Amino acid sequence: MSDSDAAEAVVETLKRAYLDEMETVMNYQTNAIVLDGVRAQEIKESLQADIQEELMHAERLGQRLKQLGARPPASAEFVAQQESLQPPEDSTDVLSVIRGVLDAEEDAIATYRSLVDQAEAADDPVTEDLAVEILGDEEAHRTEFRGFEKEYSDD
Ligand SMILES: [Fe+2]
Ligand SMILES: [Fe+2]
Repeated sequence: MSDSDAAEAVVETLKRAYLDEMETVMNYQTNAIVLDGVRAQEIKESLQADIQEELMHAERLGQRLKQLGARPPASAEFVAQQESLQPPEDSTDVLSVIRGVLDAEEDAIATYRSLVDQAEAADDPVTEDLAVEILGDEEAHRTEFRGFEKEYSDD
């Protein structure tokens, strides 16, 4: 792979990650509103806190794209992916939302892992650092929701 191909791969992954973060914000927000019941309260609060973090991820990815001479995409380039995060028919089905969140976090982890590798190949340590940092946040989200999955599966 030539240097410019490697740099192009970094820009493409930054754009995809940006759109993924925006879709995550939309779906966490909707589920935080849709869920009902006492059992859902803890999940609603956790989703609200994560929304702020995911939005900050998008902001940082967008700024990095700009620094690389590119731009973050807007809605015309958006293609929905998060099928398992669509709000459940039954608004008390907390476990379905938890599993959807785990899918989204796994996807994000895979994306940031490839971004780390691609940034290294492109000799772009700033993007690599950013990807490592965000990867750490996504792993923390996954850990939190794995805990919820255990707790809510036992009921
Ligand atoms: Fe994120
Ligand atoms: Fe996350």
